[in-house]
Amino acid sequence: MKITAAVVDERHGPFTVRDVLLDEPRRGEVLVRIVAAGICHTDSITRHGDLPFPLPGVLGHEGAGVVEALGPGVEGVREGDHVVLGWPWCGSCRNCLDGQPRYCLRLGDLLVGGGRSDGSTAMRDLDGTPLASHFFGQSSFATHAVVPYRGLVPVDPTLPLELLGPLACGLSTGAGAVLNVLRPHAGASLVVYGVGSVGLAAVMAARNSGATRIIAVDRHPSRLALAQRFGATDTVNALDTDPVSAVHEICDGPADFSLECTGNPSVCRQAADSVGMRGLCALIGGAPARAEVQLDHLSTLWGKRIVGILGGEGRSTTLIHTLLDLHRQGRFPFHELVTRFPFEHIADALAAAESGEVLKPVLTFAAG
Ligand SMILES: NC(=O)c1ccc[n+]([C@@H]2O[C@H](COP(=O)([O-])OP(=O)(O)OC[C@H]3O[C@@H](n4cnc5c(N)ncnc54)[C@H](O)[C@@H]3O)[C@@H](O)[C@H]2O)c1
Ligand SMILES: [Zn+2]
Ligand SMILES: [Zn+2]
Repeated sequence: MKITAAVVDERHGPFTVRDVLLDEPRRGEVLVRIVAAGICHTDSITRHGDLPFPLPGVLGHEGAGVVEALGPGVEGVREGDHVVLGWPWCGSCRNCLDGQPRYCLRLGDLLVGGGRSDGSTAMRDLDGTPLASHFFGQSSFATHAVVPYRGLVPVDPTLPLELLGPLACGLSTGAGAVLNVLRPHAGASLVVYGVGSVGLAAVMAARNSGATRIIAVDRHPSRLALAQRFGATDTVNALDTDPVSAVHEICDGPADFSLECTGNPSVCRQAADSVGMRGLCALIGGAPARAEVQLDHLSTLWGKRIVGILGGEGRSTTLIHTLLDLHRQGRFPFHELVTRFPFEHIADALAAAESGEVLKPVLTFAAG
């Protein structure tokens, strides 16, 4: 079928909105009409070649929409269902069987392989040139996507779909890191480096925990002010203050937990240095390709744990439904982070995110 998609033709190239062809859903796939798609920093780093997705291709991995058609062998969704397009997983590898689908052993191919696992792609230009598809199992910068059914998360049809896409990646990543991995204990101290949409989701989640010190570090005063509104007890501007010393001062020693949400390798070191003996430092930010991170060896030996986290860990369905419940109760006000842009204005949306003017741009698609 003919659809409209934002195609990236080459590394560093612009998003070109044009008509392309999309396959019908095959076995295990679902056709979704996209209602809205969030823009995540990971789309930018992929466009610039820091994630190895083949180009020309279609990015977008925070889609939400309505199920229009089912291929054979699909379970758990029906035509007309409202869905968030969560991360794909194979369902049969050791980690999927262990209940850890975020660490599916086939994840690399499923996220950035550029097509289905048999090597085929679902999208072509009108002249037949293949376009890489299935970015994070979706390629949702398009009016329609064919999606492996396992990643889909059906949601209550009375909820505003145009807000829900970012729950697929950025917001789940920050919140899930706190709720699924750090799990701060009563009286814990936690520092979040980088309060963009991922870091702010972490702050909001931490406010729902027993943590009594929630420190936000950033370089934009406006973001620090937002962090305070969403639950940070202390803020540090890294432009004029050494954040590691500031954290030690605020906590009267090292923090119990730190979360790195900037993707800057030198900030990874600051996050590791912010926790002490038996402290837990989680790395989330997406750094440039082949980036390396340094650690202080001796203090790391002291029972310190440094972990990387993908997508907030756990299952998309459980995490997204938890965040929707918290949102309904006024305890996870993520709608305040969202700014809507018509799909055709994708370049403006991206520029606004890159300049820091907008926290979470969401592209909206006219009903078709
Ligand atoms: N691990 C995962 O599964 C996963 C999922 C989604 C996003 N990500 C990554 O998470 C990161 C955050 O995403 P986002 O959408 O919130 O991005 P963002 O650009 O909106 O936020 C990053 C924030 O970090 C701040 N910052 C940058 N350098 C800093 C420094 N030296 N000190 C303090 N603050 C600094 C910026 O001012 C900004 O507010 C990105 O790198 C993204 O690629 C990872
Ligand atoms: Zn798997
Ligand atoms: Zn993302």
